[in-house]
Amino acid sequence: MPRTTVVTGAASGIGAATAELLRRRGERVIGCDLRGAEVSGDLATSAGRAAVVDGVTRLSGGRIDAIVANAGGGPPETLLALNVFGAVATLEGLRPLLAGSPAPRAVAVSSVSSLGPVDERLVEACLAQDEAAAIAAGAAALAAGRPALELYGAAKQALNIWCRRQAAQPLWAGAGIPLNVLAPGVIDTPAAAWILSDPGTRAQMERMAPLRGAHPGRPEQMAAAIAWCAGAENALMTGQVLYVDGGLECLARGERAW
Ligand SMILES: NC(=O)c1ccc[n+]([C@@H]2O[C@H](COP(=O)([O-])OP(=O)(O)OC[C@H]3O[C@@H](n4cnc5c(N)ncnc54)[C@H](O)[C@@H]3O)[C@@H](O)[C@H]2O)c1
Repeated sequence: MPRTTVVTGAASGIGAATAELLRRRGERVIGCDLRGAEVSGDLATSAGRAAVVDGVTRLSGGRIDAIVANAGGGPPETLLALNVFGAVATLEGLRPLLAGSPAPRAVAVSSVSSLGPVDERLVEACLAQDEAAAIAAGAAALAAGRPALELYGAAKQALNIWCRRQAAQPLWAGAGIPLNVLAPGVIDTPAAAWILSDPGTRAQMERMAPLRGAHPGRPEQMAAAIAWCAGAENALMTGQVLYVDGGLECLARGERAW
C-alpha cells in the first residue's frame, strides 16, 4: 500500500515541493494549509488545529504513515502560535493516526534562526505549554522593540527542544516513531523574499554560507531531505536536529557541537 503523508503548509514553498516529490513517487499526500490544500485550517488557532486533525482523520480513514509539520513563518503576532504551538499541536494531534503504520515517521521543520540570539525566557514560556502566557510574553517583547526575528528564533528553538524531549519517550520512540527536526538555512520561497529581494542582504547571506552553490537553497532540495526523514528508509535516526543550511550552523557553532 502506498504511504500516506500529511504535510502542513503544503500550498507553498518547501511544503508544496515536499508534497510534489512524494506524489511523484506514487505516495498519497494530505496537504493542509490556510487555503489551497486538501484540508484547510489556521494552525495559529485552536479551532484551526482541531479542523486540521478532524480533516486529516476523515480523509485518511484514521491511518497515516508520516507527519511533516512544516507550516511556519507568518506575521509577528502569530509567530509563537504557529511556529511552536501549531507545530506541536500538529505532531501531538496526528500522532494517534500513525498507530496503524508499519513505518511511522514524524518531521518538524525548524530554522537555522533557532540558533539565536533568542530570549531564553520566551523559549521557557513556550516549553511550559501555557500558550496564553507565552503569547503575552511575546507581545510584550515586540512592544518593547524586540525584533520579530528574535520571536521566530525563540519559537523554533522551543520546537527543537520539544522534539528532543519527546523523541526518546514512550509515545514516540516507544511506539516506533522516529521524530526528527530539519532546520533550513535560506531557501528560495515567499517566506525568504525579504532576504532575497534585497541585493545587499542577499549578497551578505551568500558570503555567510560556506558551501559554494548552497545559497539560496531550493525548495525541492529541502523536500528531498524531508522525504528521506519521513520515509520508511529512515529506520534508525530519531531526536536529531539536522541543519540543512549550506554550513551556516557548522561555521557558527564550530567543531565541538554535534
Ligand atoms: N524559506 C526559508 O528560507 C526558511 C528558512 C528557515 C526555515 N523555514 C521554515 O520552512 C517552513 C516552510 O516555509 P517556506 O519557506 O516554505 O514558506 P512559505 O511561505 O512558502 O510557505 C509556508 C506555508 O505555510 C502556510 N501557513 C502560514 N501560516 C499558516 C497558518 N497559520 N496555518 C496553516 N498554514 C499556514 C502558508 O499559507 C504557506 O503555504 C516554515 O516552517 C519556515 O519557518 C524556511
